Amino acid sequence: MNILLLGGGGREHALAWKLAQSPRCTTLYAAPGNPGIAHQARLVDLDLADHQAVIAFCDAHDIGLVVVGPEAPLVDGIADTLRADGIPVFGPSKAAAQLEGSKGYTKDLCIKAGIPTARYVRTARQADAMAALADFGLPVVIKADGLAAGKGVVIAETRDEAEAAIADMFGGGFGGAGAEVVIEDFMTGEEASFFALTDGVSVVPFGSAQDHKRVGDGDTGPNTGGMGAYSPATVLTPELRARVMDEIIRPTVTGMAARGTPYSGVLFAGLMLTPEGPKLIEYNCRFGDPECQVLMMRLEGDLVELLLATAEGRLGDTPPPVMRRQAALTVVLAANGYPGTPEKGSPISLPLAADGSMIFHSGTALKDGALVSSGGRVLCATATGSTVTQAQAAAYGLADKIGFPGGFCRRDIGWREVAREAEKTEA
Ligand code: AMP
Ligand code: GLY
Repeated sequence: MNILLLGGGGREHALAWKLAQSPRCTTLYAAPGNPGIAHQARLVDLDLADHQAVIAFCDAHDIGLVVVGPEAPLVDGIADTLRADGIPVFGPSKAAAQLEGSKGYTKDLCIKAGIPTARYVRTARQADAMAALADFGLPVVIKADGLAAGKGVVIAETRDEAEAAIADMFGGGFGGAGAEVVIEDFMTGEEASFFALTDGVSVVPFGSAQDHKRVGDGDTGPNTGGMGAYSPATVLTPELRARVMDEIIRPTVTGMAARGTPYSGVLFAGLMLTPEGPKLIEYNCRFGDPECQVLMMRLEGDLVELLLATAEGRLGDTPPPVMRRQAALTVVLAANGYPGTPEKGSPISLPLAADGSMIFHSGTALKDGALVSSGGRVLCATATGSTVTQAQAAAYGLADKIGFPGGFCRRDIGWREVAREAEKTEA
């Protein structure tokens, strides 16, 4: 079968790497892809906003499955256009992608379906938002409703900061994303990510991960798209995973179907493990980046089979995903300047990755035949091990062999889990 993968970052490189291993995959195409993905796929120059051009490509190349990596084309309805043309697609419809596209939509679903989440108010009027602050303690969380490239969340420590955030959002500081805001209680606890595949009816767990959003060691400095991740997140014990499935994931799938907008694809739940139990922070309608990189390293078996079964509504008749017991950890090498304005065009030289490790490309380009940086997050040095501590050592061993003088990485990816493992060894 021919497959078309949409996207061109580290998440898509990990997907391409795993898709290309499937015996069911004849030719893998990627649009736009990147120089790393070019090892697994034929790169295609397609404008993802031009849905008719994507369909024309699928028809001309006998595409049997489209895998959508990023959220923007999903929220823009690309899955609907492809499905209407009879092309199986892994990714939710425009209506279902509102789970990521509108924070207020997700919060309303939570209330209706009894899903634990922070108490909130949703409003499209600045005066109402200001007035609502009186009902919240501090810190308080202010969110722009729409997609804001991970930047639409402000944790305000003071009332002044909260009012400034609200004024900024309604004043267009986040573009259209801030036309509505959600104000919610600040939750405390450890954060973890949980993934599930669903075809709208059946739902299966697809592993857990933790990422590191802050740019600096010790989780300091500004937020980023993620400086590294590891899987599994053992803080999600089997008991907690069962609660997440029962209290959060399944009611979401049922609630979406009941609204007439069944969700098909991957559900990526950002969770807060509060003293009262796991609560939903937010949903994403795609795999995480760089969480996907560690999930793909751990996934046994055939990714094409799973994604196609999801796309075709056959998940209930398909053997569920199996994750290796091994841990995987990825370290992001970012360009100097990230998450502000990253330096582009810095030279990169790559070592060969040993078995059980991979260097996924996030933001690279070829310039006169040589590999250079072309984005904020540039490479993901990824490795496995029998513990997170071992995977961490292997990933940093690999990262340190990469020649990238124009970049940097955090030195402590996985620290929470490494500390837990050390405690267990001492005990
Ligand atoms: P998001 O962009 O929605 O993933 O939010 C970014 C980060 O803000 C999350 O990863 C959390 O660390 C934090 N956050 C969001 N909502 C809350 C909340 N209600 N309580 C505490 N932290 C939150
Ligand atoms: N690493 C977080 C995300 O993909 O949203």
